[in-house]
Amino acid sequence: MPLFGKKEETKVDFSHLPRHVAIIMDGNGRWAKSRGLPRTAGHAAGAETFRTIATYCREIGISYLTVYAFSTENWKRPAEEVSAIMKLLKKYLMEAISDMEKEKVRFRFFGDLTPLTPELRTLCEETERSSAKFDGCQVNICLNYGGRDELLRAARAFAADCAAGKDAPESLTDGQFSGYLWSAGVPDPDLVIRPGGEVRISNFLLWQSAYAEFYFTDVNWPDFSKEELRRALAVYQSRSRRFGGI
Ligand code: FPP
Repeated sequence: MPLFGKKEETKVDFSHLPRHVAIIMDGNGRWAKSRGLPRTAGHAAGAETFRTIATYCREIGISYLTVYAFSTENWKRPAEEVSAIMKLLKKYLMEAISDMEKEKVRFRFFGDLTPLTPELRTLCEETERSSAKFDGCQVNICLNYGGRDELLRAARAFAADCAAGKDAPESLTDGQFSGYLWSAGVPDPDLVIRPGGEVRISNFLLWQSAYAEFYFTDVNWPDFSKEELRRALAVYQSRSRRFGGI
């Protein structure tokens, strides 16, 4: 390797990529704090990272990308921070809509959108509706999302179908239950990435990540680069997935 010059890229087998990558975009606040900036600056930088990583995923051929943008618990944050995150989402979605024909990305939202402002909610619904025809990469944005909330809603919906005589408890299968989740029709994530140094799942895709591979890194989300993603992909490719077999 030359003494000076570009560091070599981590090698990834681009013909065997995970079909679905999910990311907990953590560490925005600490990234900002370490620079003496307000937390909202960390979210703005995180939104840029999201754009870079989503574009890269599409370019290399990852079919599904799911990101945790706002959890059912994040409402506990100061109103100013919540509003800054919502504004960033709005900005991103408006840009995504204008780039849609070129990028051909399909969007889905996982989570209950009813507590959002009518404007943001309409924007989410419009983005989902107008991108449904695209068959390129699919980006799922978890917004007001919680894994337990999702499972409770699914259980209630199934119970209601049983009470209405449309189904029976003993006939419920794994695949059928998946159809009651926000992620209905989306394959389970193969790889879940959590930057920001915490090693926990934080109510993210609890059902769907049953057999996912996990990748944790101390790098805060705003600093998560394409090279960081390649590292995660290379680690994923070094793992042996047995799904409970041998
Ligand atoms: C977690 O970091 C991050 C969030 C709760 C918000 C994530 C939102 C964005 C990246 C911006 C909008 C998203 C899109 C899709 C455009 P943290 O605040 O918990 O960080 P900390 O643990 O360091 O405090």
